[in-house]
Parts: sequence; C-alpha cells; structure tokens
Amino acid sequence: MQITRAYLEDWMRQYYFSSEIDIGSSGVENFSMSELRQLLDLKQEELDEVVFNDSPSCGVQGLREAIARQWGDGNPEKVLATHGSSEVIFLIMNSLLSEDDEVIVLDPCYHALRNLAAAKKCKVVDWHLRFEQKFAPDLDEFKSLITPQTRMVVANFPHNPTGASITAAQQQELIERVADVGAYLVWDSAFNELVYDSQPLPEPSTLYHRAITLGTLSKGYGLAGLRAGWCFAAPELLERFVHWRDYTTLYLSPLVEVVAQRAVEQADKLLDIRLKRARQNLDLLAGWIEEHSEFVEWVRPQGGVTAFVRLKGVPDVEDFCHRLGREHGVMVVPGSCFEHPSHARIGFGGPTSELVEGLARVSHLLKNDAIRQSAYIRQSLHKHVAQNV
Ligand SMILES: Cc1ncc(COP(=O)(O)O)c(C=O)c1O
Repeated sequence: MQITRAYLEDWMRQYYFSSEIDIGSSGVENFSMSELRQLLDLKQEELDEVVFNDSPSCGVQGLREAIARQWGDGNPEKVLATHGSSEVIFLIMNSLLSEDDEVIVLDPCYHALRNLAAAKKCKVVDWHLRFEQKFAPDLDEFKSLITPQTRMVVANFPHNPTGASITAAQQQELIERVADVGAYLVWDSAFNELVYDSQPLPEPSTLYHRAITLGTLSKGYGLAGLRAGWCFAAPELLERFVHWRDYTTLYLSPLVEVVAQRAVEQADKLLDIRLKRARQNLDLLAGWIEEHSEFVEWVRPQGGVTAFVRLKGVPDVEDFCHRLGREHGVMVVPGSCFEHPSHARIGFGGPTSELVEGLARVSHLLKNDAIRQSAYIRQSLHKHVAQNV
C-alpha cells in the first residue's frame, strides 16, 4: 500500500520539540502526571497495583463502561478503546474500505481522514469548507455529492484546522442523508466538547447503526501523550476493527487503561480548566487579528483550539512559518500541511503567556517583512525611473 506523507507530522517532528513557543498545535496544554494525580485523586498505590498482563482486545471493561457512560448511550459493548483516535481511523479505513469505493471527505482535512482512504485506492470526493463562505459546511453541496455509490462519509466537527462546526439540526439532516444511501458515517468528534457558543453535538452512533464515532483524550482533556482514544460503533463493526488490531497493536497497556479510566470518569474536571482558558485565549486572538487586519484575516472558530488564518501579502506562507520556527522559536503550522498554502494554523489552547509572546513574534516578522518588501518596491521603482529618464 502506497500512502502520502503526513506533512503535518513532518512539520511537528521539525518544530514541536525544538520550538520555545507552540502556537500551532491542535490541543490544549497537556497535564503532567503529578497534576493529573492531584486533580483526579489517583493514588500511587493504584498505579503500583498494575500488573503488565495482556488486556482485552476492546479495552478493559471498566474503561469501556466509563467511556460509554461519559459520552455514549451507556452500552460498553459499543466501545473500542484505542491508542488515540488515530488508531481507530486506521482500523476503520482498513476494515471497511476497498478499491474504487467512494468516500466523501472534508477539504481541508486532518491527513489520516483522507490519506488512508486514498491509499486504499478509493475515489475521494471533496466536500469543501470555503474561507469565502466562512468555512460553513454547505449541506446542499453535500447532498449533491452523496449518491447510492457512496460507501463512507467522513466528517469532523468541530473541525481541524478551521474550527468550523455544524448545528445539531444540520447534523441530523446529514445523518438522515447518509442513512438514505446506507453508507458508513465516520464522525470524528476529537474536539466535541471544545465549543464556545453551543452545546456539544449528539453522538451519532446512537442515531444510526452504521455511524462510527471517534473520541480522544488528546485534544480537550490535555492528555495527548497518554495515547488514549475510542470509538462507538455497532458490536459487529468492532469485531471487524479488532480483526485488524490483531495485526497491529493488539490491545492497550493496562497502565494507560488505569489512568485513562480515571480521566474519563472525571473528564469534566480536566475540560473545565482548559476550556475556560481556551475561551479567554480565543478573545485575545480575536483582538490580535483585529489589530493586524492589514496582514491577517480569519473566520472565528466555533470549536476546537485552532484558527485557520489567511495571511495577506505573504508570498510564501510555508517559508514564513519555517522562518518563524528557525529564527524566532515559534511553531505555527503552514496551511500547506492541509493543502491550503495561503493559510496558517494558529493554535490557542496553550498557556496564555505563550500565546501572547508567540503572537508578538509573529507580528514582528510580519511587520519586518512588510517593511523590507516596501523598501524593495521603492528601490525597484527608483531604478525603473532612473533608467527611463
Ligand atoms: C481531527 C483529528 N482526528 C484525530 C486526530 C488524532 O488524534 P489522537 O490520535 O491523538 O487521538 C487528530 C489529531 O490532531 C485530529 O485533529
């Protein structure tokens, strides 16, 4: 199987570990073990009790029950606990897709949601989120794309990288249309609880038996490095995913399961702290955008902790982001990682002081480049006039 490079991951490898300031990531600030143990009252003895046995293929029962209670319909038989939602995406695409299947995918899009389908030689059909339309998902356009040949629809709301979302009524309409043609619906809800002016959306697998809902502790819960995610799906689908898991990761570590279960049981505690800060940071970012309207335009995100801004007058955004990383110690993700090269992804889920300093460094580079550019234009004009006198 040939698969396109995950450019976003290439970028992260280059700058995530080396940058002093991260205003590019898509999650909130991660918790330390000590913060987590304090917040969740997780005792050292509970960790000491872990025996490194094999674990059940779908995850230990307590964890599955906790996930089902917290985000599902209470039925643990519909839960598969995984190494982040990345693993679920891999299992789903490999077990449900074949060559020439039609798959509707958002554009722009988190790479795994598109590239795995493309690697399976599926026909990928783009459902565009357009900056000019405020990244609003156009349901009429969606209805024109879906046909009886559609095998799978892959949606992600709130959306990475744009922060766009959908209303519950639109979600319902979308599910009905997918059900009409009997396609699978892969609903990536990585950012479901990170919302600012609305309630989290309902979990679609409770509404449609071919819906598969993905979740993760990596984004809103500040536990990216725990590598804990899940999906909700009909048990017969989970069986097919496990068949693939038998050739990859087999099961989760019992240590991860103990910590993840406690985090899931008290997920709201973790979320509240980080969501409060993200809300403040979003206002701060909005103020910065307004002050820099000659350089930057945006669509205010409805959810998640990323904005997909458009840089005006920057001829090469990827080069600009490289210079930010190499020369100014700031990680911002260029839109080229999402095949939208005039944009950049700014993450606002981290510490406020980091956001403030990061944006100040971005301002500095934008202004310096603009001064240099206008000096160059002036010089060229002078030369032109001198030559024609
Ligand atoms: C939309 C979306 N889905 C899934 C993932 C995978 O996250 P994880 O494997 O950490 O759960 C990401 C990570 O950025 C994402 O943005």
